[in-house]
Amino acid sequence: MTQTASWSTEAWNKVQEKVKRTSQNIGAGFPHASVGGTYQLEAPSWWTAGFWPGLLWLLHREAPYDSFKQIAEKCEEQLDAVMMDYYRLDHDMGFMWTLTSVANYTLTGNEDSKRRGLLAANLLLGRFNSNGNFIRAWNPWSEGEKNEGWAIIDCLMNVPLLFWASSETGDPRFKIAAEKHADTALKHFIREDGSVRHIVRFDAETGEVAEYIGGQGHGPESAWSRGAAWALYGMALCYHHTGKEAYLHAAKRVAHCFIAHLPDDSVPHWDFRLPEDVPGNRDSSAGAIAASGLLFLAGKLSLIEKNIYREAGEKILRSLYENYGDWENPDEEGLILEGTSHFPEGKNTNNPLIYGDYYFVEGLAQLNGEKEVFWAPAKKKVLKG
Ligand code: GLY
Repeated sequence: MTQTASWSTEAWNKVQEKVKRTSQNIGAGFPHASVGGTYQLEAPSWWTAGFWPGLLWLLHREAPYDSFKQIAEKCEEQLDAVMMDYYRLDHDMGFMWTLTSVANYTLTGNEDSKRRGLLAANLLLGRFNSNGNFIRAWNPWSEGEKNEGWAIIDCLMNVPLLFWASSETGDPRFKIAAEKHADTALKHFIREDGSVRHIVRFDAETGEVAEYIGGQGHGPESAWSRGAAWALYGMALCYHHTGKEAYLHAAKRVAHCFIAHLPDDSVPHWDFRLPEDVPGNRDSSAGAIAASGLLFLAGKLSLIEKNIYREAGEKILRSLYENYGDWENPDEEGLILEGTSHFPEGKNTNNPLIYGDYYFVEGLAQLNGEKEVFWAPAKKKVLKG
């Protein structure tokens, strides 16, 4: 990495030191939210399973450290049982296998990882509804639940697995579905003003829009900040993979709306459209995702344009580091405090979240000069040493 600012070099070093410590406790587990200073481990089928191994790959890529690699590989192996179990697989296969198998294959050329990534991509493609042109979000969470027409904005961050599979195999089916899903997101999720819906329910037979659902946002017409972050970064990635200007314009539109709604310290509230009587807890994870997305977007733009996005991304990361980072406290495993996982359900509304930690580190790597993100890997292997 080429170093750009002394604070970001210092931040990188602190992350490395802290993760060397915490990885001894967390091992090949699957952390989600840190409660009382300790990361709670989830089943490997939970959507967050890729972020911890992905974070370890980010660090190992810059300064090889065998223990990080071994833990990341063990996590990846445990996902095989999830793939075979089938029932709990959903659109989040993109998050899970991009940050495990695609990352491993990209960095080391591991052929088993490539096979796993392709298998996951095939299963993700199998969720595509060709009447509605969307990827189905989830399977029923309880017996009899009818959610075959549900699509969610988060999925824009899962379609890079499909672009990767087309690039690896030369088979365009994956990227055709990815593009159609992105077009649907453009039409039905991203509003004119750059704010973003979380869930749209389609009629699964006809593909017509049936209803807008608030999901993890305050309501159907509110603006969940993490959803906006997924849309910003996801659209920038869709532009990277297709060159389609409409995706670039959408990424910029969402970015402008996101930046305009940031409070003084640049770390967003969990929803940008809250009534006065609803608490505006911060969601540091939305800030971290958007920051990394802004830096990725900046990398796609000409010199004249890029600074606005790069500066906004750096400002968020710096505030996360200085105002929300937990670096010296031996009793906290999380890196970035004050994430909100699911405010309407009252789940983890003021906690470090593993995806906040992941995107903070990914954003820092980009800020410090790293050109690659696992969502848009070069075909050539990049690991040094
Ligand atoms: N549903 C994924 C998220 O919480 O962002």
